[in-house]
Amino acid sequence: MFKPFTCLAGIALLLAACAGPKTPQDRLTVNDKAIDKVIAQMTLEEKVNMLHSKTNMSSAGVERLGIADMHYADGPFGIREEGVPNGFTPAGWKLDSATFFPTGSALAATWSEELAYKYGTGMGTEARLRGKDVILGPAVNIQRLPVGGRTYEYLSEDPILSAALSLYYTKGVQDQGTAVCIKHFAVNNQETNRGSVDAQVDERTLREIYLKPFERAIIEGGAMSVMPAYNKVNGDYCSENEHLLNEILRGEWGFKGYTVSDWGGTHSTMGAMLHGLNVQMTGSNYLGQPVIDSIATGALTENLVDEKVRQILRVRYAIEAIPDDVANTQMTSQPESQQIAKEVAEKSIVLLKNEGGVLPLKSSVKKIAVIGQNAVLKTQSGGMGAGVKALYEITPLQGIQKRAGAGIEVSYAPGYKNFAGRRWGPASATPNPLVASAINEPADKALLDEAVKLAREADVVIFFGGTNKNIETEGSDRANIDLPTGQNEVVKALAAANPNLVTVLISGGPTDLRELEPVSPAIVQGWWNGTEGGTALAEVLFGDIAPSGKLPFTFPMKLEDSPAFAMGNFPDKTQGGDLFTLMYRADATQMTREERQRMLDAMPKPTSKYTEGQLVGYRWFDTKNVKPMYAFGHGLSYVTFGYGQMSASVGKKAVKVSFDLTNEGGMDADEVVQLYIQRLDSKVEWPLKELKAFSRVNLKAGETKTVTLEIPMDDLRYWNVEKNGWDLDHCRANLLLGAASDDIRQKAEINI
Ligand code: GLC
Repeated sequence: MFKPFTCLAGIALLLAACAGPKTPQDRLTVNDKAIDKVIAQMTLEEKVNMLHSKTNMSSAGVERLGIADMHYADGPFGIREEGVPNGFTPAGWKLDSATFFPTGSALAATWSEELAYKYGTGMGTEARLRGKDVILGPAVNIQRLPVGGRTYEYLSEDPILSAALSLYYTKGVQDQGTAVCIKHFAVNNQETNRGSVDAQVDERTLREIYLKPFERAIIEGGAMSVMPAYNKVNGDYCSENEHLLNEILRGEWGFKGYTVSDWGGTHSTMGAMLHGLNVQMTGSNYLGQPVIDSIATGALTENLVDEKVRQILRVRYAIEAIPDDVANTQMTSQPESQQIAKEVAEKSIVLLKNEGGVLPLKSSVKKIAVIGQNAVLKTQSGGMGAGVKALYEITPLQGIQKRAGAGIEVSYAPGYKNFAGRRWGPASATPNPLVASAINEPADKALLDEAVKLAREADVVIFFGGTNKNIETEGSDRANIDLPTGQNEVVKALAAANPNLVTVLISGGPTDLRELEPVSPAIVQGWWNGTEGGTALAEVLFGDIAPSGKLPFTFPMKLEDSPAFAMGNFPDKTQGGDLFTLMYRADATQMTREERQRMLDAMPKPTSKYTEGQLVGYRWFDTKNVKPMYAFGHGLSYVTFGYGQMSASVGKKAVKVSFDLTNEGGMDADEVVQLYIQRLDSKVEWPLKELKAFSRVNLKAGETKTVTLEIPMDDLRYWNVEKNGWDLDHCRANLLLGAASDDIRQKAEINI
């Protein structure tokens, strides 16, 4: 009996099957047949050899079968200099000087998917010049803590903004033939006890906030590898977390690539093998001989090893190996990347305050006093894994001097001591007068007097404050967000000496501005802004370009106002619980397995309770009605923008909004428009409002453009824990369109 429908359905399926891979992840499976033939030729030893490090930054291929090793490179904003084979000690190469791209929070401050893509292309290109197959980045964890040591490395406190930039960075890198290793999966939001802390987070918060920056890059971007984080999530280490690695990453998101543990982040053989880890970095004490032994006893099967090798080879086949005689034969940093770094820096700079028109600098300014060591400190290196040996780096002072030219006198004074970090060795015999021994050391009188003298003689004073990579770094969280080494005292003295004062903050995360803000008519967030950071900053200060960056995180009025602190969730009082404090202590490496296990078992069990739930960042400040110093999404320009009435329509697949945007000023400028949603009669609890769409718009002086924004219906869902799946909360809601989370210009009510 001819059944037209069945036949048609069969034809459709056949066509679909021939049409090739459906999703970016499926593209990784196109070589599976060839891969299985190769696996069939491999010995068990050769397979297991692929499951752990070969050198500190490589894992093995199979030379006998012509399968190249996988080569990895830190970090998220610059290809790290070559290290020695068995560690991080620099190898002293000459051609591995790279482009230093603006760090994560600076990239996020551009709110630009286009720039994130370009940024990724620069990173992917320079990785290949260095013979690297995989970049250990992007680093996309949500910035839960203002004091987080890696806040500067990460992107934002908001999942929609972070997810969009993570996706386009990933596309940019992988379109250059380099794989990303997106990190640190997941809920890696503190450095305190990072090697052992158990992040205890409810499922809805996990899905809607902490996993979002990974989800889009993996599903839509086809991220080829993932780095499980050091910490635990709800009791299990990320490197052996069934829920994260097998149920969600592979089961729900369809991830077809492979996972690489963080360095020293593997914790067992059986756990890692059964719950989703592919490669142990570094060492083979878990995924080396013990795997072979476990197969011999029947505890593990060779099929499981084959599956892990298949996942690795999918990426190996997707990334063309770089021959040794091609890699590292030209300078890593390329002019095209330097230009990208400059463009990102230009669009990342955030004008926080500008009263009395002190910015942009007037043409009448003939004497500029630049005060503060952050004007001359380079920010490329430091911060452990993310440091870059840059081919060059233009400091803020250099940028200002170059832009000022001969017609303007630029003077400089250090103003305050630099906190150079904890000393590992004995204190130096002759203390350096410019280096502080403690982060909270008060202002140095001689340095302050010298700075005030210059300030008095100048037309305008530019004070460079903030932190540095010894203060904000991987491996430790800040104790507070205070400006260090007496900067507040210095800036008050400068303000008293000359009211024409501009403050530029050179830092990665937020700082406490309660003392500084009242005395500084202009305040700029200058970031750690890469190889051309000084050039870009000078262009903004002199008005060559209008500032257009927007804050990717909240500046709290004070640290205690921020959610994890307000809820008493951080810091956890357990001390000495950090794995690294123990495992990498000299004697730990001489321990027997039993001694090491006994030590681990005796370790305190630090936890981090995420009872603030989804109320991270502005979600907390808005919902609890706590006024921040500067709000998420805040950033001024040298022009003003007019927002016309928006029209909104709710379709099956998306909510669409359009409106006219006008540049009311006298110079070209970019605006980042932001669309939030505030639910009115919802069935479930929501934050007061949430970012759901944004766009960077370039407008010539006086120009008007019609801007459209779209919110995919899927982005309006919540994780229904009862049904263990995504659901729509059908309710009335306000669409809030504005220039910042606290600067809403238009509102429209809709029904979802
Ligand atoms: C570090 C970091 C990770 C880095 C890795 C290799 O400890 O957590 O981001 O990629 O080790 O340096």
